[in-house]
Amino acid sequence: MDIKDSGLARIISLVNQAGGVGKTTLTSNLGFHLAERGARVLLVDMDPQASLTRQLGHNPRTVEKAVAHTLLQDEPIPVLSDWHQVDLVPSNNNSAMLESALAQTADKEVLLKQGLQTIRNQYDFILIDCPPSLGLSSIMSLVASTHVLIPIKASDKGLEGADNLGDTLRRITTKANKCLRIAGAVPMMFDKRKVIHRTSNEHIKRTFGKFVVHPPIPESTDFEKSWRARTPLAKLFPNHPAVQSLQAIAAHLETH
Ligand SMILES: Nc1ncnc2c1ncn2[C@@H]1O[C@H](COP(=O)(O)OP(=O)(O)O)[C@@H](O)[C@H]1O
Ligand SMILES: [Mg+2]
Repeated sequence: MDIKDSGLARIISLVNQAGGVGKTTLTSNLGFHLAERGARVLLVDMDPQASLTRQLGHNPRTVEKAVAHTLLQDEPIPVLSDWHQVDLVPSNNNSAMLESALAQTADKEVLLKQGLQTIRNQYDFILIDCPPSLGLSSIMSLVASTHVLIPIKASDKGLEGADNLGDTLRRITTKANKCLRIAGAVPMMFDKRKVIHRTSNEHIKRTFGKFVVHPPIPESTDFEKSWRARTPLAKLFPNHPAVQSLQAIAAHLETH
């Protein structure tokens, strides 16, 4: 059965093993736009640095339960619901211990999938913000997902890491999750005045040519401002040029 008709959430991992490419920024803002369009949205913070948890206004040091409780102790998945109609499964630095704590556990890659199973029918979209590595947390996320979305920094001329990421995705799709679909690449922090960004955008299109390359998200210090305000960009700056791209990506995710 197609996910569209199944009544189950599409589960989308935002993955790139580089840090600072805009994974967390894209997760929170896309979550907001999807919810604004009427979808029931859950965001899952899989990064021990808990940047998404902070972005949604929570202090990872004081959240009572985080995603690691579910993965390590088989507890129900903890959900916080107080950010612009978008729900959150928070992270804290317990997630940093996952790899070592689960070293002897068989089938550990499926733990997140199992954890999300009980709430998957309550949402239309579950977006998973992955850490900047292709370690266990990102693998668990990809195994749990129906789709993967790849934010790529527009200044990344050589698409550093694209090979590793490609290898990981091939490994997952040939074995652990044959149904995983690539929802496309998103050029992030794009400045059309910079030659290197234009060159790199062409490179992204060539590399990911058989998948969708979404409209670029422009480089703008307004993202920093909205991050500090713990607010979606569109709430602070409704006419911001990035909002159009975010809306277009959200619309695409609804139909693919
Ligand atoms: N389009 C953008 N233009 C300028 N700065 C951005 C943009 N997107 C994100 N940022 C900033 O870049 C930094 C890294 O973004 P983040 O989303 O945390 O990346 P990641 O999750 O991949 O590590 C943050 O300070 C964020 O506010
Ligand atoms: Mg991040």
